[in-house]
Parts: sequence; structure tokens; C-alpha cells
Amino acid sequence: MQDAEKARRYGEVAKQISAVLEGESNEVTRMATVSCLLSQAFDYYFWTGFYMVDPEKPHELVVGPYQGTLGCLRIPFGKGVCGVAAQSRETQLVADVNAFPSHIACDSRSQSEIVVPVTRPDGTLMAVFDVDSTALNSFNEVDKQWLEQILNDVFGKEPA
Ligand code: SME
Repeated sequence: MQDAEKARRYGEVAKQISAVLEGESNEVTRMATVSCLLSQAFDYYFWTGFYMVDPEKPHELVVGPYQGTLGCLRIPFGKGVCGVAAQSRETQLVADVNAFPSHIACDSRSQSEIVVPVTRPDGTLMAVFDVDSTALNSFNEVDKQWLEQILNDVFGKEPA
């Protein structure tokens, strides 16, 4: 997909997400809605969802709301693309998952992925948001910038 078309669609979904979630503070509801609306908007989104920081094991991620085939249930910090994103708190853009040393293959059809850390208004890490594609090199700076912005708008700010 061309970058201009990607950006146009992200802009539309961002508006839709903020309209649907207005006044709704429940975190699980917000995660479920974000996963659903983003995965419906882009054909290249094969697996779309959240790995949440487990409050009982603060260095472990546990799967949250998602759209797609069965996801692995738990991922330790530092392992896989999700665990590296959680530990570093930096977005991971992976053009070819087979070249990422500790990649965890929940579904062998995944070929490229992006994982964005999700923080609360107080700066604590809430989750990471993971999108996988069955094609190589599906994600770029346009996905990174829009996903970081959408996730910060939904989870990183006190509700108005
Ligand atoms: N590929 C991810 C694991 C999660 S899933 O693919 C749903 C990773 O390496 O962190």
C-alpha cells in the first residue's frame, strides 16, 4: 500500500477510535476496540493485539485483547519482538521476522511485524501493541508514527 493511502486510512481510523471510545475508561474495552478497528482497516494486518504487563509478574507479558489466530499466552521481557519492545520501551519495526534472533513464531505465516510500547498517563508501561503481517516488509515509518500517536491518544493521556 502507498504511504499516502496508509496515512489517509490511519487518519480515518484514529478519528473513528476516538469517537467510539469517548467517555469509556475501561482499559480492556479500549484495547479490544483499538484491535478491532485497526485490524478491520488494513488488509495486511494478519494478527493485531495487545500483550499486557502482568501485574503479578511485572517482567512478563500476558496476551490481552486481539484479532487473529491463536497467540502465545506469555512472553518474558527481553524475549521475542514483543519482549524487546517492552524492555527497551522502543517501537520495534521488523521487516523480516526470520532475521530477528529471538523472534517467537506463534503462527509461522507471520513474516514482518511492528510492536509499539503502550504507556499510561503516569508513565508506567501498560502493554505492547503487536501487529503481524504475512508479507515481508509490510510496516514502515508511517505505521510507526500513526500507531504511536493513536496509542498515546488512547492510553497515554488522562481522559478529557
Ligand atoms: N512474534 C511475536 C510474538 C507474538 S505473536 O506473533 C502473536 C514476538 O516475537 O514477540
